[in-house]
Parts: sequence; C-alpha cells; structure tokens
Amino acid sequence: MSATSVLARKWRPRNFAQLAGQEHVVQALTNALTQNRLHHAYLFTGTRGVGKTTIARIFAKSLNCETGITATPCGVCSACTEIDSGRFIDLMELDAASNTQVDNMRELLESALYAPTSGRFKVYIIDEVHMLSKSAFNAMLKTLEEPPAHVKFILATTDPQKIPVTVLSRCLQFNLKQLPPALILTHLQYVLGQENIPFEIGALNLVARAAQGSMRDALSLLDQAIAYSSGKVDEALVRTMLGAIDQGYLFDLLQTLRAGDGAGLLRIADDMTMRSLAFEAALQDLATLLHRIALAQTIPQAIAEDEPERERLLALAQQFTPEEIQLNYQIVIHGRNEIDLAPDEYAGFTMTLLRMLAFAPQAAGSAAETRVAVAKATPSPVYAAPRTEPSPAKPAAPTSAAMPAAPMQQANGTLDWNTLLTQLNLQGMARELAKHSVLASFSDGQLVLNLALQHKHLQSNKMAHDKLQAALGEYFAQPVRLSVELSASNAVATPAAVEQQVKQTRQQQAVEAIKQDAFVREAQAVLGAQIVENAIKPIQQ
Ligand SMILES: Nc1ncnc2c1ncn2[C@@H]1O[C@H](COP(=O)(O)OP(=O)(O)O)[C@@H](O)[C@H]1O
Ligand SMILES: [Mg+2]
Ligand SMILES: [Zn+2]
Repeated sequence: MSATSVLARKWRPRNFAQLAGQEHVVQALTNALTQNRLHHAYLFTGTRGVGKTTIARIFAKSLNCETGITATPCGVCSACTEIDSGRFIDLMELDAASNTQVDNMRELLESALYAPTSGRFKVYIIDEVHMLSKSAFNAMLKTLEEPPAHVKFILATTDPQKIPVTVLSRCLQFNLKQLPPALILTHLQYVLGQENIPFEIGALNLVARAAQGSMRDALSLLDQAIAYSSGKVDEALVRTMLGAIDQGYLFDLLQTLRAGDGAGLLRIADDMTMRSLAFEAALQDLATLLHRIALAQTIPQAIAEDEPERERLLALAQQFTPEEIQLNYQIVIHGRNEIDLAPDEYAGFTMTLLRMLAFAPQAAGSAAETRVAVAKATPSPVYAAPRTEPSPAKPAAPTSAAMPAAPMQQANGTLDWNTLLTQLNLQGMARELAKHSVLASFSDGQLVLNLALQHKHLQSNKMAHDKLQAALGEYFAQPVRLSVELSASNAVATPAAVEQQVKQTRQQQAVEAIKQDAFVREAQAVLGAQIVENAIKPIQQ
C-alpha cells in the first residue's frame, strides 16, 4: 500500500488526544512525563500504520516543548512546530531499513555525546530497528549502557523478535495494538468531515474492515476511494474498489455447507471465478468469518448492534456447534497455507470446501470425542478435472465388463431408450415401468419393451401402460402402440440398472478419493479418525 498517503500524512495526530486507540501506551507515557520518571530508551512494537512513528514524534515534542516537559505539548512553540515539520535539529530520525551500516550508527552515536543545540533532549528515533546489522547493534549497545543524560532513544519495530535481548533488556517496551474497525471508522468519519467530503457510512465501514487494523492502510484506501469517486465516497464504489469484498457469498457458503450441499459449494466457487475473486483472500475472509461466529457463540455481546451482518452471523452461530466451527477454522487455515501447493488456486479452494464437507464431528458437543466421521464426500471429478472444464454432468459410460451382458437393441441407429426416457418426463408407475425395461423394437408405430423379470408386477399395471404409451405418442408426434413383454432374465441393462451401476462406480470413486486425501490420512494418523464408508456420498450432479 502506498507509503505516501496524502490523508495519512496530513492527518497524522499531533498530540496524544488526537490519537485513536493505544490508550495503554498514552497513559503510561503520560504518567512518566507528568511524574518526570523518564527512561532513556523506549521501544514501540506493532504492525505497520498503528502509530509507532506518530507516538514517537509526539513524545519527542513532550520532551522538548518550550512550556516544559509535558504530556500535552503546546504545538505552537518553535520546538513543537519544528518537530511537526521535521526540522528540529535535536531530533534525529533514522530508518534502519535503509541505513543498516554501522557507519551511520557510529556517526549518529558520536553526535549523541554533544549537548543538544536548542532543545532539552537529543532524541533519536530509529525506525525498523530490527533491520540494523549486528555491528550496528553493538555500537548502539555501548551508548545504551551508559547513555548521556540528555539523550533519549525511541526505537520502533514491526518485528521485535529480531532484536537482540541485550538491546531489548535496556528498553522500556510498549506493544501497540492493531486498531479495531470501529475505531478506524470513527477516525475516517472525522477526517472526511474535516475535509468536507461527503460519504456513505457503509463505504467507510468497508474500508475500516479492509484495513485490518492499520490506520495508515485505512487512510490510503480512503485516498484511493476519493480519487475514484466523483464527489461522494459511496458504498458501491468502495465495494468495487476493494475487489468486491462483498462477504455475502461467504455466508452463503457456510449455509450451503450446513445443508450438506456439495454441488452448491462448487457452484459458489464457480461463481467466484466468474467474479474474479481471489481464492486465497477468500479463505482468509472465511477464517475471519468463522472466528466471528466462534465469538458470537461464546460472547454474543461481542457482536455489535450495528454490525451489518449481525442477523446472519447469529443464525450461523446457532446452526453450527462450537466444535464444528473450530474444526472448520482449522481446515480453512490449513487450506490457505497449502494453497500454493495445490495445482491451482481453484483446486486448493474447492478442496478446502470439500474437506469441510467431508468432516463432521460424529458426536458434536463432546470434546473427548476424537473420532471423525466422514459424513459426505465427493467423487474424483472435482479433484482431477482441471478447473477450466466444469465437471461433466454425464457420468462415464460403464464399461462393458462391468455391465450385465444384455441385449440393448435399438430400433434404429439413433434411438437410445436411456436417453429417450430422460425426455419423457414420466411420473410414478409409468416411470417405474419405463425404467425397468429395455427397448426391444420400434417399427410401424409398434413399440415393444422388455421388462426386467423381477419387476413383472408392472406388466399388468394398465394405468402405467397407458400413461407411458401416451407419453411416447406425444414424444413421437404419432400414435404409438405399446406392448410390454417379460424379459427372460434379470440381467437386463435397463435405465434403472445402468443408473445403479453408475452409482456404484461413483461411490467407489468417492470412497477412493476420500481414502487418498492427504488431510483424511493425516486425520487418521493424528486424531485416530475413522472413515465411515457407508456415510460417504458422492456429490449429486
Ligand atoms: N493510532 C492512530 N490514530 C490516528 N492515526 C493514526 C494512528 N496510527 C497511525 N495513524 C495514521 O497512519 C499514519 C502512519 O502512522 P505511523 O505512526 O507512521 O505508523 P507506524 O506504526 O507504521 O509507525 C499516520 O500519519 C496517521 O495518519
Ligand atoms: Mg513508522
Ligand atoms: Zn511546544
């Protein structure tokens, strides 16, 4: 995100009162300043754009304001104004990310020996301090051990783990927090109010969430939104700008999961492709949503009254058990980590959805229960088919070896009873009769069916016969005389038998796919999960 956000620079807080959040830090610094119990080195940690540099500069003013050491620097004296405009001679700012050489450090530290020129203290702000080289750290350590009384160090970093303990132990450390969306929202409202730019609150809500705790990111997104908009920052525009971060589809997704609708899940994934949504980001958003659901389950009050999706959130919190939410969260996080290993993002994403579908705690509510039942699964098309080819609705024709050897006579070269049947739109017994028969012959308006032996009771069903005859007449647009003869054996390739065969094949594929799945294997190995084979169901096409 652009480092040179116009709004972020213009609206950098100039005193503690203007700062959003970080009260714990402000309070501690205020106490130190008012009681004159000052440390010589401070370390501010936290992700980018949460106020580290901002607080460091306010603190520098607090130390050097001409009105005296104060938690409320005047903002008008020459020290304050010079610090605000970056011209104060006794404030040295060093960006370790671009100056990692020990020479810079030496130069800087040598100057520390001299008394301040115009201020009370020489203040050294070292940003991204974890980037310093080892020798630079060593040079700094010497000064930290015996700091001249007129020197204050303010170090800032996004990555405190990388700072040597010898340095850490000499600093007073403050951890800045990511800013909650509500705080960001309020601040954005304030800024736009000051700028006299009209907005829709929904637009700011979207920006506040997208910023993920960083005020700088929020303001630079707002910069962009203003640039795109013609006068008013409205919700639809911001939605488009943020790459359609409309989370509605995520709710749909969980609802579809709850319904056990595998085909529905894939439809949503396909729909996302059409809208060019990024699958990896979607997994992250899904994890966030699951987290919010978990929160809603545990502390419903945590869900703000004005939360846009409050109703749906609470509904989902009811529909899933806390264990299911935990498990799904794990699966989603896992899926996101693995997405680079997947053949492509679509595969990685859908695989994650299918895992969520495949796993349901057998005894929801019992934490001791570690058996994981595979409730539903999917056959291989989704796993194997490249995503450019939507899995074909038509199952592969059963091999002749797998099929009962049966006379599948066709009255002419093209007429296929199986296909014909799907077009007749039959109901009830007429449909049963047709399903359990094969076409023996069709000529001169005389259509003969062979009914599978075990369904012979259908032969005498006059109503079924008449309905089927009528439907055939309508289909061929000519009167059809239907006669139903009993076949000699049960092994007839009737549409019902074919369907059964296809089902079995797909069931085998589904069981195989589940058994081969790496996550399932891991669950078996780690959790002692067991596959409940007859609970596996292929996705309905
Ligand atoms: N807590 C905050 N309250 C208000 N604005 C903030 C806050 N944190 C950051 N900002 C905004 O973001 C910009 C960058 O903040 P900065 O303090 O430089 O972040 P960093 O933590 O990366 O040092 C500031 O100019 C300001 O506009
Ligand atoms: Mg900074
Ligand atoms: Zn001042």
